[in-house]
Amino acid sequence: MSNSLFRTKKVENILAEGGDDSHGGSGLKRVLTVRDLTFFGIAAILGAGSFSSLGYAVFHGGPGVVSLFIITGIACAFTALCYSEFASRIPVAGSAYTYAYASFGELFAWVIGWALIMEYSIGNIYVAYSWSDYFTSLMGKMHVHIPEYLCTSYMEAKHAVEGGSTNADELAAWNNAPVIGGLRMILDLPALVINFLITYLVYRGIKESRNFSNVMVILKIAVVALIIIVGGYLVFSHGLTPNWTPPNDEGVKSFMPNGFSGVMMAVASVFFAYIGFDAVSVLAEESKNPQRDLPRGMILSLVICTIIYILLTLVLTGAVNYRAFDGVGDPLAFIFEPQNLNVGWMQFLVAVVAVVAMTSVLLVFQMGQPRIWMSMSRDGLLPPVFQKIHPKFKTPSFATIITGLVVGVPILFTDKTFVLDFTSIATLFAFVLVCGGVLLIPRKEKLGGRFHLPYINAKIIFPLIVAGAIAFAMYLSKGYFGHMTDFSFERKTEALQKIIPAKNIDTVTVAASIEQHLVSTNDTDSAFIKLTKAVRESSTAAEKVKLAAGFISDNDPTQSRTAKISLIIFWLAMVLLALFTVIKNYSLIPLMGVSTCLYLLTGMTLSNWLWFGAWLLIGLVVYFLYGYKKSKLAG
Ligand code: ALA
Repeated sequence: MSNSLFRTKKVENILAEGGDDSHGGSGLKRVLTVRDLTFFGIAAILGAGSFSSLGYAVFHGGPGVVSLFIITGIACAFTALCYSEFASRIPVAGSAYTYAYASFGELFAWVIGWALIMEYSIGNIYVAYSWSDYFTSLMGKMHVHIPEYLCTSYMEAKHAVEGGSTNADELAAWNNAPVIGGLRMILDLPALVINFLITYLVYRGIKESRNFSNVMVILKIAVVALIIIVGGYLVFSHGLTPNWTPPNDEGVKSFMPNGFSGVMMAVASVFFAYIGFDAVSVLAEESKNPQRDLPRGMILSLVICTIIYILLTLVLTGAVNYRAFDGVGDPLAFIFEPQNLNVGWMQFLVAVVAVVAMTSVLLVFQMGQPRIWMSMSRDGLLPPVFQKIHPKFKTPSFATIITGLVVGVPILFTDKTFVLDFTSIATLFAFVLVCGGVLLIPRKEKLGGRFHLPYINAKIIFPLIVAGAIAFAMYLSKGYFGHMTDFSFERKTEALQKIIPAKNIDTVTVAASIEQHLVSTNDTDSAFIKLTKAVRESSTAAEKVKLAAGFISDNDPTQSRTAKISLIIFWLAMVLLALFTVIKNYSLIPLMGVSTCLYLLTGMTLSNWLWFGAWLLIGLVVYFLYGYKKSKLAG
């Protein structure tokens, strides 16, 4: 018993609560095998990320997004190994939350549990929206028209109108919606309905859910394989391979037409596509042999999905020029449209299977969330009602219903981009802590039949890797570190931004100010020189303003400053970690997990960080008001 914020839970106690008998200590049924767990992994991983947000990723990064899939795949593999180490030592439900409780202590455990709400519940909001997009378009193909105001989120329609979007569906939703009491009745009904159905299914029980999920996984793998085979064949037979090196704005052919920074803009979408392998670990209490099977299930599903993503990205960017993916929410069906590869039956098949694929993602996450809450409740950090098990269905019934509400209610007032970013940053954060946790737990003897993370003393290797990475960065771009610490470009862009006015100010005056500003700065930066020349040569004032506005949106100073600051923090963290490794003999695999996940975090925007920070702050308030006092470990 202690008052410390870092009080840790003993592994023996966690195991005693989770139980090792045929029913688990909590009354959950042990029915899942390694095949089921792998299927669960794939069920969770392959969904909205590939069927929907891949279009956004490819549009920003071009074919070079493949490299981000590889980096992210590697980061997730290291993380999966760390999850596996924990899962094999502490085979009870609760995922990263439980692991943090045993390593970092209660406050961190709570913070992870709180961050995981983002991954499991908020992530499902994105999937539900994407599900609804495909479902609506599928209905459209069958000539059933759902009014736009019943299948668009309120926020999306509002942003479309405010931002002067040309998206016909979103504008129609706003313009045609019935108005009651001054409020436009716009809601994403299919997203709400699927959330209700999934919640019901999870409430009814694990066995039924498992059967449902296995069928869905087989179906979606078969169709994704078909997309790769048919699409890949057509890319080669139609001679489309030059699409893999499209010309950039300067006309130079490149695998990364927008550079590596363009690729990094896709981090949230690409990472989202990988989320899910960790969900396998929350099924510890329902698997027959968790120590052996959880690691296998996690890693197998991750490897399969990484291969699928690389091939899918190559097929997509080969089939169509990456620029055509602007605003495309159904990229896998899009490549088969008449103006592209023109295969009608594939379009239909992909739409059907996308609905199935996303249903399985919803199912896995909706099962995961209540199980994490159940663990938190057992520890006293959430009210006891969260661990209530349904007497007949043997599922955490109350927590399941609350999950349904946490996913369902925000569907009414959020939009896709917001929830996608939020989910990715929180999950990456949790992954960093899991890998960091493995660094801290004491090493253990290898036991037969159990997963064992090999200990590789990184005392020499890791500092060498960090030094190698620094040298490599400097080799790729000589001024890498100088550029990273120089914020003059951002300051100049901001100065230009200030000149561009709110509406209603005379365009001629603004254009003159822009021109004057560009001349007076007399910049040596090539981007500014190009802009100055273009502004000078353009004939109308409106054109000059448009050029400057375009420049600012392409070189968003806030985003670019955030990226630089994140990179500075990242490199400092690497050097510090290398120093600690020399002193403490840390193990290589978790170190690589921490490093690669931290690197991915450098792709997050300022608003991602602010929202996430606010969320953590709320979490801390809740902890101090409830969990700190009610914790089973409280003194
Ligand atoms: N990885 C999951 C998906 O893409 C969350 O839907």
